[in-house]
Amino acid sequence: MNKDWKALYRQDQVQEEPTGYLVYSESILDHFKNPRHVGEIDDPDGLAVVGDPSCGDHIRLYIKIEDEKIADIKYKVFGCAAAIASSSILSELAIGKDLDDALMITDDDVIEAAGGMPAKKAHCSLLGVVGLHTAIADYLMRREKGG
Ligand code: FES
Repeated sequence: MNKDWKALYRQDQVQEEPTGYLVYSESILDHFKNPRHVGEIDDPDGLAVVGDPSCGDHIRLYIKIEDEKIADIKYKVFGCAAAIASSSILSELAIGKDLDDALMITDDDVIEAAGGMPAKKAHCSLLGVVGLHTAIADYLMRREKGG
């Protein structure tokens, strides 16, 4: 993993200026072409729909919880290449973590794991993160209600 993502981030900003081109890391390209954990869970313990399905980018994210850990994540994301790749990376970061640690995952963690992300695409990494946090909140509310 490239730990120097902030340098890549600055480099991307410079490269975007004159040309308008976006420069993606090898990891983002790999996750975009082969996204992990895509799909649905029939009987999820938590579910989130984040964004606006009627008019724009959004994610449906499902979680299964076992022993207070994220046992499985599935998602369907509608967005750009960065949103697809970062949702895939998020799923790999979160599976196996206990709930408190999963709630600590930030968009910066996803960007670091991605090996950097073009500045104008950094916000796309929030879709999966907010989806995960919302699905965990849904799980906690269901548990509170006993169902
Ligand atoms: Fe809208 Fe990336 S998800 S620009």
